[in-house]
Order: sequence, then structure tokens, then C-alpha cells
Amino acid sequence: MHTRRIGSLEVSAIGLGCMSLSHAYAPRPSPETAAALLRAALDAGVTLFDTAMLYGNGANEALVGRTLGAERSRFVLASKGGMGIVDGRRTIDARPQTIRQNCDESLARLGTDVIDLYYLHRLDAKVPIEDSVGAMAELVHAGKVREIGLSEVSAATLRRAHAVHPIAAVQNEYSLWTRNVEIALLAACRERGTSLVAFSPLARGFLTGALRDPSTLPPPDIRREMPRFGPPHWEANLRLLVPYRRLADEAGCTMAQLALAWLLAQDEAIVPIPGTTSLAHLHENLGAADVALPADLVARVGATIDRRTVSGPRYAPERQADIDTEDFE
Ligand SMILES: NC(=O)c1ccc[n+]([C@@H]2O[C@H](COP(=O)([O-])OP(=O)(O)OC[C@H]3O[C@@H](n4cnc5c(N)ncnc54)[C@H](OP(=O)(O)O)[C@@H]3O)[C@@H](O)[C@H]2O)c1
Repeated sequence: MHTRRIGSLEVSAIGLGCMSLSHAYAPRPSPETAAALLRAALDAGVTLFDTAMLYGNGANEALVGRTLGAERSRFVLASKGGMGIVDGRRTIDARPQTIRQNCDESLARLGTDVIDLYYLHRLDAKVPIEDSVGAMAELVHAGKVREIGLSEVSAATLRRAHAVHPIAAVQNEYSLWTRNVEIALLAACRERGTSLVAFSPLARGFLTGALRDPSTLPPPDIRREMPRFGPPHWEANLRLLVPYRRLADEAGCTMAQLALAWLLAQDEAIVPIPGTTSLAHLHENLGAADVALPADLVARVGATIDRRTVSGPRYAPERQADIDTEDFE
């Protein structure tokens, strides 16, 4: 497996997003299937595992800790705090005292003394980023966290945070159909030596071609509420996969692999973290690290699916309000 750097950490060029093993999509795998997938990923050379307090309200961290705890020295463990479930509702709270408590609880669930990469899951509009990052810096000094990251933040927030403590990674959505990081964040990351961890790099399954009809996804799959997966946008987006599939054939890889190889080709400091519940998909996705795309193909892929051709916003307005990223005019 090729490797990339996140601050002082060396990670596999493709990590594993663990979210869908306990959260967000449906149906969910059994605990045995989920554990087998985590072990298979480690054995296949994945050394970056991404979880969060939010996922399954702690269940995902507990799964990762229970399953991979004995192999702790073999991988980089990333988790997130500052957003959880309170009284049944997804709640952002990035006050310093909450972050300290979140981190201690995550360490206990993960069964480890140190989280290698600890992210602020969302900027809290009520708390200056300097205060949240100040609390995270204390966690570094206390030896509970090795590197700090931020998730779903703008370039301006990254700059303010970085002035308090070096930010090793920003984890924002980045894929062919969500290109907002290209407005300003990628440049800000390059300026500061911050890596970009690309979440939902397969466009939550769209770019794989395997998802044909999102209306058949069972509740509580969150894609049912996402504009691009519903009418009138889904049908328009599906049409983009016709030329996209031809480009994957030209590259000699699958559509999922093309999506990941395209991301890897954008910058050495980008680390995609695709999620899957399937062993076959896991191995297919990891194969993308060996797909070398010629520059002209990278450009054609990037122009086939981009903000001008994609139909619909990525989030419904209520959820978008929680997000601190630059948006296209
Ligand atoms: N920071 C944040 O706010 C945030 C938000 C969202 C996600 N994330 C992180 O990013 C990770 C990945 O994002 P994601 O799971 O939302 O989206 P994703 O990786 O873009 O897509 C996952 C979807 O694609 C399908 N899939 C994966 N590989 C496939 C393949 N080779 N062929 C066909 N289908 C395939 C999966 O289904 P199968 O299970 O059937 O393979 C699943 O439905 C998460 O696990 C999480 O760690 C972070």
C-alpha cells in the first residue's frame, strides 16, 4: 500500500471510513460482519481508520476499539468530538469543557491511551474556533491526542485555528460531485502543510454506479433526505454516469476506483477515506491506489462530473446551516 503523510503520521494512501458500519446508511451490517471488515482492512494494508463519537452514538468507536484494540500499534486512529447525540438529536457543542469530556469518553470507548488524530467534528457557531482548538491543544500537551484536525471548515477558520495550534488535517467532503474545497480550502491547506482527508469520496455511493434507485434505501438511510439523491436531481445525476463509465473503461478500472484515483491525483496531501460494509468493495477500493491516471484523463474526468454538471445541493438547508465551508455563488 502506498503511504501519505498527515502531520507527523504516516498513513495508507486510502483509509477506511468506519461510519457506515454503525451509522448514517442502511441496512447496517451485523457486529460480526463489521468486525470482519475492520480486520480485513488492517490485513489488506489500511493504516488509517476514521471514526467519531457521533457514529452510532459511541457504538462505532466501541466497535473499532473492541475489534482492533489488540493491534493498536499497527494503525493510525482518527476520531472526532464536538458533535454528538443529546436527547435524541444531533447536537454541536464545541465548548472547551465539552471537548475535554468528549475526548476522555472516546478514549475509554476506543480502549486506548491516545487518539492519533482528533478532529473537531463541526465548528460551533457559539464558540470561537480559538477556544475549541485551545482545548484540543491541551489534549495534545496532556498526551491524549497526537495531532489535531477540523471537519467541515472554511479556509478562514483553518487559518484562525492554525494560529493557535498546527492543524494536521482538515476533513471535508471532497469528490467529483462536491468540489467546494477547490474554492479556497485546498490552497489554505497547501500554505500551512495541512492534509485534506476527503470524506464521502465515492459521493456516498453515487460514483460507484451500484446505486440505481435511492428511493429503495430503507430508513434511516440519510441519503433519502439529501437533495441530489431525490427527484428531480437523481435522474439528472444518473445520466452523468454514462460518460463517466466510459472514462473508467478507458482508465482500465472500475468507477469506484476512478473516483478515488482522481482524488489521489489532485494532490499528494489528499487522503480519501471511502466507507463500505462489503469485503469485495473494500478490496476494489484499495486497488485504486495502484491506478495511475494520465494528466489528460484526470482533467476529462474532472470536467465530466463537476459543479456545473451535477444537479442539486449536497444538503437540505437545515443541515447546510451547520456547515462552515465556502460555497459556490
Ligand atoms: N466528517 C464528516 O462530517 C463526515 C461526513 C460523512 C462521512 N465521513 C467519513 O467519510 C467516510 C466515507 O464516507 P461515506 O461512507 O459517507 O461515503 P462514500 O465512501 O463516498 O460511499 C459509501 C457508499 O458507497 C458504497 N460503496 C463503497 N465502495 C463501493 C464499491 N466499490 N462499489 C459499490 N459501492 C461501494 C457503500 O456501500 P457498501 O457498504 O455496499 O459498499 C456506501 O453506500 C465515513 O465512513 C466517515 O468516516 C465524515
